Amino acid sequence: MSLFAMFKSAGPTGFGYGSTAEQVTEGLSLAGQMILVTGCNSGIGREACRVLALRGALVLGTARSKEKAAAACATFPGKAIGYACDLSDPSSVRGCVAAVKADGHRLDAIICNAGIMMLPKLEKSHGYELQFFTNHIGHFMLVTGLLEQLKDEGRVVMLSSEGHRRAPVGGIEFDNLSGDKGYQPLTAYGQSKIANLLLAKELQRRFAGTKKTAYAVHPGVVATNLGRNLGPVLSRLAAIGPLFLKSLGEGAATEVFAAVNAKALPLAGSYLSDSNVEKPRADAEDAALATRLWAESEKIVQAL
Ligand SMILES: NC(=O)c1ccc[n+]([C@@H]2O[C@H](COP(=O)([O-])OP(=O)(O)OC[C@H]3O[C@@H](n4cnc5c(N)ncnc54)[C@H](OP(=O)(O)O)[C@@H]3O)[C@@H](O)[C@H]2O)c1
Repeated sequence: MSLFAMFKSAGPTGFGYGSTAEQVTEGLSLAGQMILVTGCNSGIGREACRVLALRGALVLGTARSKEKAAAACATFPGKAIGYACDLSDPSSVRGCVAAVKADGHRLDAIICNAGIMMLPKLEKSHGYELQFFTNHIGHFMLVTGLLEQLKDEGRVVMLSSEGHRRAPVGGIEFDNLSGDKGYQPLTAYGQSKIANLLLAKELQRRFAGTKKTAYAVHPGVVATNLGRNLGPVLSRLAAIGPLFLKSLGEGAATEVFAAVNAKALPLAGSYLSDSNVEKPRADAEDAALATRLWAESEKIVQAL
């Protein structure tokens, strides 16, 4: 537990900064539930899978390769099946969608957890900046591909970040999705994370009239492999880390809360942090922007 957690009180849901994934699921039986989690082999996603399996859910854990996913799933204390889903490779995402469908799985929740952050130099997939492509387009393909598999009360959870506040002015630079007209690692990460938030908003709008729900979450700041590109910044953070860095259990709490806790249901469509509602940047709540991003993402995916 971070020192910070000792001074922060719980929010209206009864959970807060110091709540862990085990605590937000305490007393819940997830037997009979099927939950797909991307990025099951590392960091927050791995901890989320462990706790969901511990509570009885069948976890469908995805990683860049089937071997990685299967190796991680073998360590969880319950039922878990590994699937390959490289989010930067459309054929791999389509393969994952096809495999989940072929196996006949009906999903209670999809947790879009995998992500990359602040690539030092511009990298691309299919002509698009790689963080936008991996964090947003890959997940857009996966979620839209699996919508038919989502149960009537199914939930979609998008891992966003407070980093969404560093997105470019206007939220998404639709005329620079390649990064060729300018690339800043943090701005590009911010753009991908505001895209995650906007996707949750648009999904919730499209779920109107159904019992399906969507959420975006900020997990907190956790020392994971995500920081592999931070270099000296990370070493400075590591020195003061115990003050504010969340543990893995604390970091996994909000995504798990959104996916399975009944207290999340009235908060559908919201941006959550510390398992409570948080106000995002204003343009992350712009319905027209969310609808435009969906339309542009569809066009991108159709052309791949
Ligand atoms: N840690 C934080 O402080 C923090 C703060 C705010 C938001 N977040 C968000 O939380 C989520 C989880 O991050 P984390 O901290 O747990 O990081 P992590 O330990 O680096 O885990 C990220 C996961 O994403 C996977 N991944 C990366 N690229 C992929 C690709 N092309 N296809 C499929 N999977 C891919 C990684 O697989 P490999 O192991 O193969 O690379 C790994 O399983 C991310 O979406 C991140 O943006 C984290």
